[in-house]
Amino acid sequence: MPKRLAILGSTGSIGRQTLEVVAELRDCFEVVGLACGTNVERLAEQTRQFRPQAVSVRDEERAEALRRLGVEVPVYVGEEGLERIATLPEVDLVVVAVTGLLGLKPLWAALQAGKDLAPANKEPLVVAGEHIMRRVREQGVQLVPIDSEHSAIFQVLRGEDRSRLRRIILTASGGPFRGRTRAEMEHITVEEALAHPTWQMGPKVTIDSATLMNKGLEVIEAHWLFGVEVAQIDILIHPQSIVHSLVEFVDGSVLAQMDWPDMRTPIQFALTYPERQPSQRQRLDLLAVGPLTFEPPDWDNFPCLGLAYAAAQTGGTMPAVLNAANEIAVQRFLGGEIGFLDIPRLVESVMEQHTPLTAPSLDDLGEADAWARAKAEEYQ
Ligand SMILES: NC(=O)c1ccc[n+]([C@@H]2O[C@H](COP(=O)([O-])OP(=O)(O)OC[C@H]3O[C@@H](n4cnc5c(N)ncnc54)[C@H](OP(=O)(O)O)[C@@H]3O)[C@@H](O)[C@H]2O)c1
Repeated sequence: MPKRLAILGSTGSIGRQTLEVVAELRDCFEVVGLACGTNVERLAEQTRQFRPQAVSVRDEERAEALRRLGVEVPVYVGEEGLERIATLPEVDLVVVAVTGLLGLKPLWAALQAGKDLAPANKEPLVVAGEHIMRRVREQGVQLVPIDSEHSAIFQVLRGEDRSRLRRIILTASGGPFRGRTRAEMEHITVEEALAHPTWQMGPKVTIDSATLMNKGLEVIEAHWLFGVEVAQIDILIHPQSIVHSLVEFVDGSVLAQMDWPDMRTPIQFALTYPERQPSQRQRLDLLAVGPLTFEPPDWDNFPCLGLAYAAAQTGGTMPAVLNAANEIAVQRFLGGEIGFLDIPRLVESVMEQHTPLTAPSLDDLGEADAWARAKAEEYQ
């Protein structure tokens, strides 16, 4: 029986690579629903190729444009459209590959409907990880992360007793500005920040990788996904992006997962889990890679990392505030409104103004998110 998929964010970097994996393993999957924001031409093409039952776009205007392109299946719109695609009765597994906190509501709706989940989208786990993981256990569904570091840890922990885990080591490429001082980063342009050395990704996650906020968000994501204390999660800069993360066990053994920096590997693992299927992709050749190097992160020049750890240690509503402030900061940087180094300054200033709530409900988290977005827009 093919696994029946809904892909939210099908026109983005992860969404397109998910469809490449599906095209390569055509007998294993059926695409039931696709959703995107604005790229109706690409969605129309995907609809012709993969024949979903229904699709969704950001607004009515795009829905009209899609129909004009000859798409005849039902077209839903907006956040409600994302939720409808995520909960179509025929769907077994939902790939969440939209950006930012936008993924939270459809992910939650999919969970409530008992769907298995493959989130690439880390922000919902950063903000509401405790709620999500509790609901995953209650619903008895599978959640297999797509983020390469978390996929690595998930793969390493397969069959292991998790209480014997001592430490998680997340690797990071270091981004395009590794080795630079803050003074050297003051005038960085959007184009420079969007040029990542090892990964081809959408703009939000690329900027987060340049500030190292991405690694900070991943620490919080790992904390919830694997039920480990924040103090048990370390970061190593590994510029070659071959070792995708490591786990140290109580006996001193350290296990790692390795591959080229190619998101199709963790995507395929999440789609085919618990099985493994062959792939035609290039095999890892350690002789061709050359030396693998590791160095400590530069906390002073990349303050987003420390801010994320602080938010994780504070807990409650603070990670939601960190995430919301960062989303607005990245948007404002991409829009040319603020400089690169204003990203950590803005996030820190919003965090300083926040009085965190402990044990927040989903509504409390929504309010903290809205509050932080408004504060982040005020930053000058
Ligand atoms: N790319 C990577 O290698 C990578 C690696 C690890 C984790 N991630 C995580 O995966 C997520 C997706 O990243 P990405 O790089 O694939 O991002 P991306 O290339 O920017 O793609 C985002 C997707 O979300 C859709 N979208 C945006 N606004 C929407 C809206 N209002 N309604 C419906 N759909 C909307 C976009 O549609 P349109 O383009 O049609 O507007 C696009 O399909 C992020 O959370 C990121 O942190 C990505």
